[in-house]
Amino acid sequence: MENQIAEIKSNITAEIQTVNSSKELYELKSKYLLNKAGIIPALMKELGKASKEDRPKLGQMINALKDWATQIFEGKDAEITEVEKKARYEKEAVDITMPSKKTKVGTLHPVTIIKNELVDIFAGMGFKVVETREIEDDFHNFTALNTPLEHPARDKQDTFYVSDDFMLRTHTSPGQIRSLKSIEPPFKILVPGRVYRADDDATHSPMFHQMEGLVIDENITMCDLQGMLDVLVHKMFSETAKTRFRPSFFPFTEPSVEVDVSCFECGGKGCKLCKGTGWIEILGGGIVNKKVLENCGVDSNKYTGFAFGLGLDRIAMLKNGVNNIHVLYDGDVRALKQFKD
Ligand code: PHE
Repeated sequence: MENQIAEIKSNITAEIQTVNSSKELYELKSKYLLNKAGIIPALMKELGKASKEDRPKLGQMINALKDWATQIFEGKDAEITEVEKKARYEKEAVDITMPSKKTKVGTLHPVTIIKNELVDIFAGMGFKVVETREIEDDFHNFTALNTPLEHPARDKQDTFYVSDDFMLRTHTSPGQIRSLKSIEPPFKILVPGRVYRADDDATHSPMFHQMEGLVIDENITMCDLQGMLDVLVHKMFSETAKTRFRPSFFPFTEPSVEVDVSCFECGGKGCKLCKGTGWIEILGGGIVNKKVLENCGVDSNKYTGFAFGLGLDRIAMLKNGVNNIHVLYDGDVRALKQFKD
């Protein structure tokens, strides 16, 4: 038995030298230790045949052999794992000095950038964004906004009709009607979106963007509109920007105003951008006409409100020094990618 054990030891020592992978190591381990038929477990079985006196000693020897072999295999296992790990790391290594592949990063459209900026500012004042439809009926686009059929204001908005009864909305103001009919006052909403007019020159495109604002509550006055617009221009243009109201006319607001901001290029001194006036028109607005509230079933004795409409394309052009609106819509990526958030 002693000879047998010595032979097994020397065999293991020799065979383990030739092992190069964890698979081979597992096979060797199985041959000697793991299987019931493995060489060392087989020795254990033979123990039964030994005499009573020899058995404890032989048992100890076999156990010692088992421990020795286990240790040898564990040592080799650690060694192989280390080598294999190293090889894998080398194979998977990334050459950080290699030039990377260029990925093209897109940019937001300049009008989207302005819209997002405005939505952020108004959200801070408690406004919610509502999006309403682009194909409207006569009631929502005109009649409910106090612009009946024969009203001359309709001429200002050359309308694209899609059928006798339906048209592409000419402004975002129908969003006022849809909100007044569906939301219980008081509320503050914004309606950004595309609008359409048959108009096409350097500063007009048949499709452009507006953002409507509507605030309905008790005791709303022109001062509320002015206060809110001051906050807006400070955040949008500069801390020192001022607003100026000029009387105007819209059928759905009474009184109506056109609002200018002090020129953000020259600060009001007069330059090319503001055509020497020091002021730049940015929006139309006013106090919601009682008739509009009544057309939507809102109690005009209890509630008042203000509304305004901003041209998003116009602001995007002014802020970026673009003097032709078609730059925004010709889809030339070389032009559009210059506008960064
Ligand atoms: N809808 C008007 C326009 O398109 C703008 C506006 C909106 C004016 C709300 C007053 C109040 O010109």
